[in-house]
Amino acid sequence: MFSLEAGAIAITLALSIGFPTAQARTDANAESLPREMRMAARIAPQDTQGVLRPENANEARLNRLQPPDQVMDAIGIQPGMIGAEIGAGRGRYVVQLAVRVGESGKVYAEDIDAAALRHLDQRCERWGLTNVETILGDVTDPKLPEGELDFIFIISAYHHFADPIALLRNARPSLKPDGKLAIAEWLRSTSPEEMEAQMSAAGYKLERTETFLEANNLYIYVFRIGDAQRD
Ligand SMILES: C[S@@+](CC[C@H](N)C(=O)[O-])C[C@H]1O[C@@H](n2cnc3c(N)ncnc32)[C@H](O)[C@@H]1O
Repeated sequence: MFSLEAGAIAITLALSIGFPTAQARTDANAESLPREMRMAARIAPQDTQGVLRPENANEARLNRLQPPDQVMDAIGIQPGMIGAEIGAGRGRYVVQLAVRVGESGKVYAEDIDAAALRHLDQRCERWGLTNVETILGDVTDPKLPEGELDFIFIISAYHHFADPIALLRNARPSLKPDGKLAIAEWLRSTSPEEMEAQMSAAGYKLERTETFLEANNLYIYVFRIGDAQRD
């Protein structure tokens, strides 16, 4: 039987290990608990891996083309960082970023699609991700907090922006002086020349271009704040 006492222990356990970075350490504990307790605490063994698992076939396909760990390594996403994804959608990459930055970091997930952000809020709640804050932006204003961000990340979204120059110009004040803007974009959608020119107009300077996913038709552009804006 699933006793009240067992339930209390399970819930306490769930609260104390709700964050996925802690979950790897608790896999063994979770597996040794009775099934009822695991269900009550929402720490079923499959759940501990599930936070990073694609939600559907399209997410799985995109993650094969844009492997999250490789992409985050290339950009330099580290534990403790505070960042934002603009055009975060239903959070395919937000969950990756949130687990990578960990409990001491934070990810702002911005989009103009309220329904997508509601889905993402539920996704975070389901997996106990407490370091994600969703932000409903405008078409040309992401409404991110000022001066707080180590990085702004954009993936599979740049070519959807109606006015990327205005949007990214309005995002610039949210970066710390040494913060980075990283854009992963399909080559077929935006050429490297267009990307550099547009982001230059928005006040950024291209630092480097990562081409290791060229076979998948993807470049990753890493920008810093343009010199005039750093002074
Ligand atoms: C193809 S989805 C990509 C979502 C997510 N980045 C991913 O890779 O799974 C493109 C997203 O860009 C968002 N978007 C379009 N225009 C935008 C804008 N001006 N500002 C913020 N998000 C925008 C859309 O609402 C959509 O969620």
